[in-house]
Amino acid sequence: MNQSQTDFLIIGGGVIGLSLAYELGRRGAKVTLLEQGEWGGQASSAAAGMLAPLKEYKEPGANLDLGMKSLQMYPEWVRELRELSGVDPQLAMRGVMTIAMDESEAKMWHDKYQWQKAAGYPVEWVGQEDLRKLEPALNPDTLGAIYSPTEGDVNNVLLLQALLLACQKIGVQLIQGAVATKLLTGHNETKIRGVETTQGKLYAEQTIITAGAWAGVIAGWLGLTVPIFPVRGQIAAVSAGSLELRHVIFGAQGYLVPKQDNRIVIGATEDQAGFRREVSMAGLASVLTSVLPYVPSIGEATFLRAWAGLRPGTVDGLPMLGPIGDYEGLAMASGHYRNGILLSPVTARTMADWLLTGDRSGLTPFLPERFFRGQVVQESEPAV
Ligand code: GLY
Repeated sequence: MNQSQTDFLIIGGGVIGLSLAYELGRRGAKVTLLEQGEWGGQASSAAAGMLAPLKEYKEPGANLDLGMKSLQMYPEWVRELRELSGVDPQLAMRGVMTIAMDESEAKMWHDKYQWQKAAGYPVEWVGQEDLRKLEPALNPDTLGAIYSPTEGDVNNVLLLQALLLACQKIGVQLIQGAVATKLLTGHNETKIRGVETTQGKLYAEQTIITAGAWAGVIAGWLGLTVPIFPVRGQIAAVSAGSLELRHVIFGAQGYLVPKQDNRIVIGATEDQAGFRREVSMAGLASVLTSVLPYVPSIGEATFLRAWAGLRPGTVDGLPMLGPIGDYEGLAMASGHYRNGILLSPVTARTMADWLLTGDRSGLTPFLPERFFRGQVVQESEPAV
């Protein structure tokens, strides 16, 4: 690769970049996807793969609406990816139990259940006796739970493989191992024409930053302050052995996600460690001990491994989707915080609708301009 021209250049080959490349490519666009390291090698592969907007979001609003829309898209999206790639991402909509271990948690979750039920969401309140029947491995002292039967999980590592193969099949140009070093402008300083990389220049009509927690670093080359920051999630896996968990279990201190390959994934810290991805002893200890009261027999499970990922957080908790500031030809789809896997299909569709048809309706209130108003566009070196 020395120089190339494409319609859409996507910087960042995580689940958001891969999903967007796939969506644009399947609609006939010429797409290049650039990844400096491993495909999905950061937050996307570190995730637990939960698909649970009703559990994740504390209140009604734009995030929950976006999450529910994406959840509904998942079965068809995964079916299509499976057919095209031959890889099964092991989608399992077996339901989520948000459990209460004491009276104050019971009140908190019951209040949540009430507004969700009143708003028409598919949730039920399950009392102590029924909970024992529905999820026998739970601590019998668990007081109750919100049961959301339409939520579940996906194997995020297999999903990444499926997306990568699907992108290959539909002709997305995949460039791995090249690092973007500069955004290219023309004589007009506010028109972005692509990126310079360690392997040459890539020109595009539109450059889209999907670099997760690193998105702010790239936009920062233009002098823009992008309020995206890394939030470390330390996470672990054990072998389920003969322990049967029938649902994703979520509590106030942690969660357990049973996987189809007989692992149980347990998460997660939310700690600020800059861009460090180590697992700390205190972090791992808190992850493991937080779920012991939920499922006491998991104490006997064989520990497999622990790892960490960096969630891209934003100051208002909403992702950033759409054009960046006053720049032409530059956009962003980043800042999905805890829900990049969940939000991939809807992000890809919403961004592709805008990029291909100009329809911005799905981008409000996620437009990055909410942060860029008033920021001065900086001078940068012309590319030619
Ligand atoms: N999606 C769960 C987490 O980020 O821990």
